[in-house]
Amino acid sequence: MQRRLVTKYLLAGFLVMAVTMILYEMSTSRVERISCLPYGNGVPMEGLRMPALDQKEVAPARRPMDNADIPTIYVITPTYKRPAQIPELTRLGQTLMHVPRIHWIVAEDTNNTNPHVLELLDHLGMPYTYLTTPMPHKYRIKSGSKPKGVANRNGGLEWVRKHATSGVIYFADDDNTYDIRVFDEMRYTKRVSMFPVGLVTSKGISTPVVRNGKFVSFYDGWISNRKFPVDMAGFAINVNFLLKKPGASMPFVPGYEEDGMLRSLNITMNEVEFVADNCTKVYAWHTRTGPIAPASRSILDSKYNDTNLRVLREKIHLKKK
Ligand code: UGA
Ligand code: MN
Repeated sequence: MQRRLVTKYLLAGFLVMAVTMILYEMSTSRVERISCLPYGNGVPMEGLRMPALDQKEVAPARRPMDNADIPTIYVITPTYKRPAQIPELTRLGQTLMHVPRIHWIVAEDTNNTNPHVLELLDHLGMPYTYLTTPMPHKYRIKSGSKPKGVANRNGGLEWVRKHATSGVIYFADDDNTYDIRVFDEMRYTKRVSMFPVGLVTSKGISTPVVRNGKFVSFYDGWISNRKFPVDMAGFAINVNFLLKKPGASMPFVPGYEEDGMLRSLNITMNEVEFVADNCTKVYAWHTRTGPIAPASRSILDSKYNDTNLRVLREKIHLKKK
């Protein structure tokens, strides 16, 4: 009698496990592929998503459950073609894979869809949107510092305005390092939240200065005449709050991108939320990859015809002749 009861419980246990596993599998394959809205001259254009390389099937990676009832974080990442682009995006993408309810907006500084980026995005299997958002020509030809990633981030903002009604926006450069806890901190941002960023300027850190939970000033290597001397990776914006400010965007002014963005939101420091334990934790790091020169052209030698090197050649940036 008792043995029969044990068998019954065992069977029920197995059944529950099997159903859970099936549900989990289903949830990981539930991928929304919004994808490529080509974006040119500052105006987004509706368009078709380009297929990844050769339209090959790309095996999806495993991700956490995405059906949790929590606000979506729209991570806007500017990127551009260079030898380290795919490795940087791989590292960031595989960080984001650990985080539920992410919608990754990858906005590339180019006129042409980059199949290598799309292939990676397809593999990662998280909801994503790929935009082509070239830097306007007049800024590209300017000497001196350029407004890096601004067309990209504004393209991402415009996409969010069109497609999202709630959630949070975060600007995540492709070369930084993010502790996944930063996403827990920003997820319930009501208007704008701020938190420390490590490795910014010779001061080593950029953060609001907080005493007894109250804003005092800013600690940053370059205050200048900025009202909001913070780093791009040090704040997040609520989507509803953004939608209430139709004119808010990032200015094409090198050094003043963060300040201009926050000013355009018409926010005061009284309204800012100081997260990461009252700005005592560092969950975002302004890491930089040193310059990497394009590779030599020896991979093109005819002795490598009909070998794997013909395929691998596509994965690297070669020196111009
Ligand atoms: C510095 C600041 O610390 C950032 O907060 C700020 O976003 C950036 O400058 C800027 O000027 O916009 P830094 O490390 O010098 O950061 O800049 P990068 O990492 O080289 O570029 C910032 C982002 O823009 C990256 O995601 C990068 O992929 C992208 N980018 C850069 C472009 O899209 N096009 C470019 O020509 C260069
Ligand atoms: Mn950087």
